[in-house]
Amino acid sequence: MEILEHAKKRLHEILEDAKHLIGVKQEDIDILKERKETLLSWADDLMDDFYNTLLSYPKTAKVFERIPVEQVKSKNKKWYEQLVSGNIDEKFYEFQFLWVLSTFTGK
Ligand code: HEM
Repeated sequence: MEILEHAKKRLHEILEDAKHLIGVKQEDIDILKERKETLLSWADDLMDDFYNTLLSYPKTAKVFERIPVEQVKSKNKKWYEQLVSGNIDEKFYEFQFLWVLSTFTGK
């Protein structure tokens, strides 16, 4: 439990640093929220175009020999959906942080 509390505290600090360094402002988040429906409707096409481009070029296609493209695509789609919904809060970073942890620990 103590380690989880420590991880959460650290995550909070990282979030504060990231907010400052990225320079995301409330008005940026509001712009995303206002256009949420349109941006969400682009998700599948955007993902298909993006990964088809990567798969069509040998150097980038090579990356997907070790990890299934569908797996990465679905993670990226979730990330995009959260981003364009304006949900750039602790849960947004937590999702990424925990996913990276689960990738490294193989869970
Ligand atoms: C604007 C550009 C890109 C965006 C927004 C993006 C986004 C993402 C996201 C959201 C994830 C899920 C993991 C996480 O939350 O950190 C991910 C993982 C991954 N991406 Fe990207 N990506 C981009 C460019 C690329 C490119 C150019 C490649 C390969 C040439 C690539 C290959 C991968 C791979 C292999 C993973 C899985 C990582 C692993 O399991 O080791 N990405 N990406």
